[in-house]
Amino acid sequence: MKPLIIALALILATPLPAYAHPRPPRDLRQLAQQTGIKIGSAVDIAALRAESDYRKVLNREFSHVTAENAMKWESVEPQRGTFTWADADTLVDNARRNHQQVRGHTLVWHNQLPAWLTTGVADGTIGNAELRSILRDHITTQVRRYKGKIRAWDVVNEVVEEDGTMRQSIWLTHLGPGYIADAFRWARRADPHAKLFINDYNLEWNAPKIETTLALIKDLQAQGVPIDGAGFQGHLGIQYDYPGDWANVMRRFAGLGLEVAVTELDVRMELPVTPEKLATQAQYYSRALTDCLSVKACHELTVWGYTDRHSWVPGWFEGQGSACLLDESLAPKPAYQSLLAVKSPR
Ligand code: XIL
Repeated sequence: MKPLIIALALILATPLPAYAHPRPPRDLRQLAQQTGIKIGSAVDIAALRAESDYRKVLNREFSHVTAENAMKWESVEPQRGTFTWADADTLVDNARRNHQQVRGHTLVWHNQLPAWLTTGVADGTIGNAELRSILRDHITTQVRRYKGKIRAWDVVNEVVEEDGTMRQSIWLTHLGPGYIADAFRWARRADPHAKLFINDYNLEWNAPKIETTLALIKDLQAQGVPIDGAGFQGHLGIQYDYPGDWANVMRRFAGLGLEVAVTELDVRMELPVTPEKLATQAQYYSRALTDCLSVKACHELTVWGYTDRHSWVPGWFEGQGSACLLDESLAPKPAYQSLLAVKSPR
């Protein structure tokens, strides 16, 4: 009897290591609480409105949200001077009711621009000076509208090419390289408390893109431009190696005094789905979370849609799919379980 009691007393007296939580998290919201990072999802507004199961799971699991499309320029100003905020408002209102923080996505991009803007620039009816004031008004109007309601804005998205040159977007070719500094300054003026991010894909591993983006940020900082964070989209695929250096890359950006975030994580695969592929996918998801947790400045991990029912992947990558944490019927996949199992070093 006695040795048993002693053994029991020893077990009870042994302090838990700092990272060990008595109970494994029951869902992503609890995981976010326990690890201290924000876990988010991109949101399909039509689904949020029409599908009660989609809404329920989104609001149960996620403490951070990004509009997948609803805050892009073509969504908010489809005709010049005609603003359509209903979808973006729906996201922001739902977030407030469900204690979710919001990432604003995105102010300056070369895609999903309204036709009036691209054609006006192409046919010369919108000159460069006018284009600059259109951009300033767009940023000011949108950021002001959600002032105090957006934790972080993706101010500029995908401004660097794969080869490390600056993207030849209409912004660069018509306004010159200063458009980036201008965009951050206008955004800061419109909402001084929102964190202002630069966001890009393949920034997890692509050396020329990484070096140019770091140099760009240093240059902006030297000019006193307000920039607070760097977002790594994180569109991964299991047919490619996991970007094994990602945590180090995050640390380099953090070394400039920036917050870093995983802003659009998904892990696609060539179809058909097999249990082996799902197991590999699960490792990619848990490694991404582990990498974020290993970098003190990483405060957010957002997935680009949480269910295969609403994922951009099948429409954009032929023959690929199943990129999300939950399947079409909202059942958790191994990737979901693998996130809950990640041990936080924090
Ligand atoms: C994608 C959306 O998911 C699609 O619905 C839309 O048709 C195209 O854009 N990088 C980004 C996101 O910054 O805005 C993109 O979202 C995916 C790639």
